[in-house]
Formats: sequence, C-alpha cells, structure tokens
Amino acid sequence: MTGTQAPNAVGIEFADSVLEASVRDGLGAVEKALLAAVSSEDEFIATAAKHLVDAGGKRFRPLVTLLAAHFGEPHTEEVTLSAVVCELTHLATLYHDDVMDEASVRRGVVSANSRWGNSVAILTGDFLFARASDILADLGPEAVRIQARCFERLVTGQIRETVGPKPGIDPIDHYLAVLSEKTGSLIATSAEFGARFAGLEDHQIEALRVYGEQIGVAFQISDDILDIDSDSVQSGKTPGTDLREGVPTLPVLYALQDTDPNGARLRALVSKPLTDDAEHAEALGLLRASSALVQARATTLEYAEAARAALADLPDVSARTALDALADLVVSRTG
Ligand code: IPE
Ligand code: IPE
Ligand code: MG
Ligand code: MG
Repeated sequence: MTGTQAPNAVGIEFADSVLEASVRDGLGAVEKALLAAVSSEDEFIATAAKHLVDAGGKRFRPLVTLLAAHFGEPHTEEVTLSAVVCELTHLATLYHDDVMDEASVRRGVVSANSRWGNSVAILTGDFLFARASDILADLGPEAVRIQARCFERLVTGQIRETVGPKPGIDPIDHYLAVLSEKTGSLIATSAEFGARFAGLEDHQIEALRVYGEQIGVAFQISDDILDIDSDSVQSGKTPGTDLREGVPTLPVLYALQDTDPNGARLRALVSKPLTDDAEHAEALGLLRASSALVQARATTLEYAEAARAALADLPDVSARTALDALADLVVSRTG
C-alpha cells in the first residue's frame, strides 16, 4: 500500500543550494540506515515494522538533526545514526499513539492497529524501540542517557495527557507542559544529537536543544490545528480524530475558556467525545471559524519565535537561515 506522503516532504525552501544538496545526501543516508534498522528475518515482523516507514512521513526529526549538524561536521556516521534513532523513536510512538487515540489512518495508509490489531501495533512499536536502543549502544553511554531521559519525558507527556490536569491546575498550562514533554522532548533530542555528534561546543549544543524543544511545541500545536483545519490528503490522517476521541487540544481548550455567549454551542459540543457524526461535523465547522483557532495560531507563532531566538548566538551560517525558515514553515503550514 502506498502512502500519500513522500518521505522527506517537509518542503523547506533552502536559500543555499550547497546546504540543500548536503542535507539531501544526509537524509538519503538516514533513509538507507532506517530501512536496515527496521528489517527482520521474520517476514511478518518485517512487514509490520516497515509499514509506516514505507508509508512516507516528513522525516522532520532527522531534518532537524541534520540541520543542527551543519554548524559543525555534518557527515559523520554518528550524525546519521543518531537521526535514525530519533526517527525510530518517533515511529514507535506513532504505533503506540494510534492505539491510544484509536486512529485508523496514519501517513495516508491504514494504521497498524487497524490493519493487525492493538497487540501487534504495540509490540511492533516495542520492536522499533529495541532497534533504536541497539543503535544507541554504538553511540555511547551519554547518548543512551539522553535518549532515555527524552523518552521518559515523552511517555510522561503521553500519560499526563491521558490523565488530565490535577484539580486547581489551569488546563492550558497543563496542556502546554504536555506538549513540551510529548513532542518537544524528541525534537530537542534530535537537535541535540546533531549538534553533539557534529562536534559543537556545549553552549551551542544547548542553544540547538532549546531550539528543538520550542519548535517541537510549535510543531505540535500546528498539528492540532491541522487536525481541525485540513483534509486527510494534507495530513495523512483522519481530520477531527482528536475531537472524536475527546482529546482536548489547544484550539478546543481556548474555545472552552472563552466566555462569549456566541460560543455556547461550540463549548457544549466539545465538552465531551464527539462520536455522533453530525455533531462532530458541526463542531469541526464551528471550530474552523472560531477565534480559538486564531488564538492557537498566535501561540504557534510565539513558540516559533522562541525557537528562532534560541539561535541568536550561533554563527550566522546557512544552517541557521534554514532553521529560521523551518520555524516559519511550522507556522505557515497551518495557513
Ligand atoms: C506526528 O508527527 C505526531 C506529532 C508529534 C505531531 P509528524 O507530523 O512528524 O508525523 P510524520 O513523521 O510526518 O508522519
Ligand atoms: C503523537 O501525538 C505522538 C506523540 C507526540 C508522542 P498526537 O496524538 O498528538 O499526534 P497525531 O495527531 O496522532 O499525529
Ligand atoms: Mg494521535
Ligand atoms: Mg495522541
């Protein structure tokens, strides 16, 4: 089955064609190593593990690793392998996330849980984590620890999203903290690995880590917006999945916080999971036209600007221009 999204389809505009060619080469090496990493002698496991790799995906995390590495020596084996570790970790979380969110479409194809059931989807995710750990062992104990702590934060975010805010905690503060944990963590690690394995100084590694964390949150909010305001061809997923499952994403939280009487119908609809098709469609329509969506876009921009600000003390090379452009793209992809 072929996905609707080609690999490496982030669509960033490079001002420097030399950098573009170098990043393209780097992504090619990552793709080759990624395919090797998901292979198995067991035919069924090989099919299940390759399912989402073959379906496409943007390779956003490897791109961040490679761009961060271009402040130093970008074509080391460690840079490539660390990018593979990040994409494998991401892939594994997608297998698990689609079980948790009961999603039926991913990367333009049927999700693993829909195709083979939850058990196979969960175990295939675990298989991919195992393969990531195997590669990490070659990158050394520091890399193992960085990924372990990143993964702890990612899972903590997924659990906190599932459990919801404690009484007395502002749901929006809670949600933004969840986004740092579940999405910012891995994109921060993607940047940190690229910087570290390209031989950058500690303060530069830290700057790029912060960039990754902030752009990660912006990226996730824009993903939440796309869940409401795009079609499945664009996102490769079923629009309104979060809404159907009653996952309160940022636009929904902003809508719930609003006190305008005109928003009463929307608030009533999004206060519960929307399993009824007509109500689901009505809520999507109201959200698309809401000030909550505008507010969520403004928050995306704030995080993208914080990402850009983290680059201020890095050398003004073409990789920095490209990371700036990537921050712009995360904002502009939501229209
Ligand atoms: C989806 O990530 C999950 C989020 C953290 C938003 P991507 O949007 O990077 O998914 P792929 O890799 O392109 O499929
Ligand atoms: C994806 O989260 C998984 C992680 C960030 C760990 P979401 O559930 O928010 O993303 P999509 O919309 O399914 O890709
Ligand atoms: Mg999901
Ligand atoms: Mg989820």
